[in-house]
Amino acid sequence: MIANVITRAELSDADFDHFKAIIERESGIRFHSSKKILVEARLLRRMRELKIRAYPAYLKYLRDNYKDEIVNLINCVTTNKTEFFRESFHFQVLRDTVLPEFERRKKRRLRIWSAGCSTGEEPYTIAITLLEYYGDRCPGDTRILATDIDTSVLSCACEGIYSAQSVKCIEEPLLRRYFLRGRGPDEGRVKVKDSLKKMIRFRRLNLLSDSFPMSGPFDIIFCRNVVIYFDRESQVKLFTRFHHYLDNEGYLFMGHSEALTYMSDLFSLWGRSVYRKNRQCT
Ligand SMILES: C[S@@+](CC[C@H](N)C(=O)[O-])C[C@H]1O[C@@H](n2cnc3c(N)ncnc32)[C@H](O)[C@@H]1O
Repeated sequence: MIANVITRAELSDADFDHFKAIIERESGIRFHSSKKILVEARLLRRMRELKIRAYPAYLKYLRDNYKDEIVNLINCVTTNKTEFFRESFHFQVLRDTVLPEFERRKKRRLRIWSAGCSTGEEPYTIAITLLEYYGDRCPGDTRILATDIDTSVLSCACEGIYSAQSVKCIEEPLLRRYFLRGRGPDEGRVKVKDSLKKMIRFRRLNLLSDSFPMSGPFDIIFCRNVVIYFDRESQVKLFTRFHHYLDNEGYLFMGHSEALTYMSDLFSLWGRSVYRKNRQCT
């Protein structure tokens, strides 16, 4: 055990600034200087795996193995907190207002994007809401795209295995319909059923990369609790792209503490932290 312990090295301000600049350039995630201890701890986790003892040595390792290591560096600094039915009013709005509107418009094609999906609870909750609303009337061409920059959370999302604790907030009938309970060595865990899994495609995507591989348009984009870590310039860049990727009057769901007031030319507030794309003038 003792051999695995690394003496806690100190992250100098200069090295912190260096890591901060790399992280911000590659992911848009901005760390204020008050977050130095947090960054230090997260970097240390990765350094332990590599058996590297000092931050300057990790910076050198990163420089020498940039293409492979940058993915691991970003994986270790992202904040991935999420849960099933997080900010549950969004799923009520989806069920009670947005989906009935799509049904009235007889939409046969539905595209929903969970941007910054973390370990998958958000896209699986969207899929449950769709299946519960539509039953067997679900438009044949319905797809959910779920993306994240962090490859480790994406592999959890694809696997779809969660602790029984993390599905406690889900009502029993829904649990029975959409999850399998683990037995024997898997006791205490649940697995998402294929009926949900097949509605979702998980992909790695950096929301600040210069181009996106998909064509759109999307009817709804969920981008919740992601941009709080971005600087204003990155936020504007991303929302301008969301505007391009949304169908006319498409919906954008944001985290409850995120506001889009500075983008009022492109989006209008429609409900509690839900925005609609403004109709484009021709
Ligand atoms: C706090 S989680 C939010 C998860 C979910 N949307 C929710 O609200 O429960 C934020 C997620 O955004 C992802 N993220 C951060 N920067 C990103 C970027 N530049 N591109 C794509 N995903 C990013 C992180 O990896 C993390 O999984």
